[in-house]
Amino acid sequence: MIDINTLQRDLLARVNESETPEQVLKAPEFRDLYAQIPTLDPSERGAFGQRVNVLKKAIEEAVAERRLVLDREELAPIDVTAPFDINSALPNLLPSENGTIHPLTREIDRIADIFNRMGFVRENSREIDDQYHMFESLNFPKGHPARDDYDTFMTVERDQEGDPLIAPAHTSTMQNRSMVKYREALEQGDPIAVVVPDRVFRNEDLDARHEHTFYQVEGIYVAKGVHVGMLIATLQKFLEEYYGKKLEVRVNPFYFPFTEPSFEFALSCPFCDGKGCSVCSQEGWIELLGCGMIHRNVLKAAGIDPDEYTGFAFGCGIDRLVMMKYGIEDVRHFESAKLDFLRQF
Ligand code: PHE
Repeated sequence: MIDINTLQRDLLARVNESETPEQVLKAPEFRDLYAQIPTLDPSERGAFGQRVNVLKKAIEEAVAERRLVLDREELAPIDVTAPFDINSALPNLLPSENGTIHPLTREIDRIADIFNRMGFVRENSREIDDQYHMFESLNFPKGHPARDDYDTFMTVERDQEGDPLIAPAHTSTMQNRSMVKYREALEQGDPIAVVVPDRVFRNEDLDARHEHTFYQVEGIYVAKGVHVGMLIATLQKFLEEYYGKKLEVRVNPFYFPFTEPSFEFALSCPFCDGKGCSVCSQEGWIELLGCGMIHRNVLKAAGIDPDEYTGFAFGCGIDRLVMMKYGIEDVRHFESAKLDFLRQF
């Protein structure tokens, strides 16, 4: 008879000493345990089988933990000395004229500036966020099918709820935080007017139009009596200011769990003025962003009374906006760090 407690201790010790802890899962002792089951009295088999499963689970967890430790150990040790005193003045290794602002950073500042002049304040989003801000606060309950549209990267570590943390797939993660932050001012009679231009992530197959890392600008406006006309006018004004010309806009019904009604917003191609060119795939129109009136449940989740206040929200892809402005044909240039691309800006 094998004593399972002793065996568990022995296997755990092996896992923690091993460089290849996964091997322990193939230990012959497991086979021996399973072989023992048919030899037992039928009344004992159930309990024994369960004990074996508990053992297996404990070992699997220990293997996963050991793997994390081993992988961490493989990182290069930080034992180089910086060629300047890191505790004193700023390093000045290269003259700053050798560097330029990344085109996306510059355009993001321009975009934020236009909204600023319209009265919106700028907030930043996070690069790691939780399920509540990514989904629940936005009216996507657990198991909601629309969650599948936002496939992104997750951490191995879990939060207190047992859920992984997420690299946010949209800037809408900031809707709840922004509304909570400015709710008091709203109650004093000031509208909530926030823009969040920041980085987002998606698990995409990469091509000229898709990147795993890109930028969006979220807009959130809440006050008394806000309506769809104000949403459309705000976006049109922003786009005309950004492109420096008159543009036609087109609004089609769409679906997002966090806005009702929801729309897909298109503009006449600023490159060919709607005549049809390679930038707009000969369509004359470019689908640019998602928007709508903030859903009652989203207002409620932020502690705002939907019978008293209404609001609009939009989320616009910045990379595409910039690509259309300069005729950039491939979104992957932005993250490529290629100097011959960057030097053109
Ligand atoms: N977050 C949505 C997306 O990335 C866009 C959106 C933002 C839609 C705000 C409506 C309101 O797909």
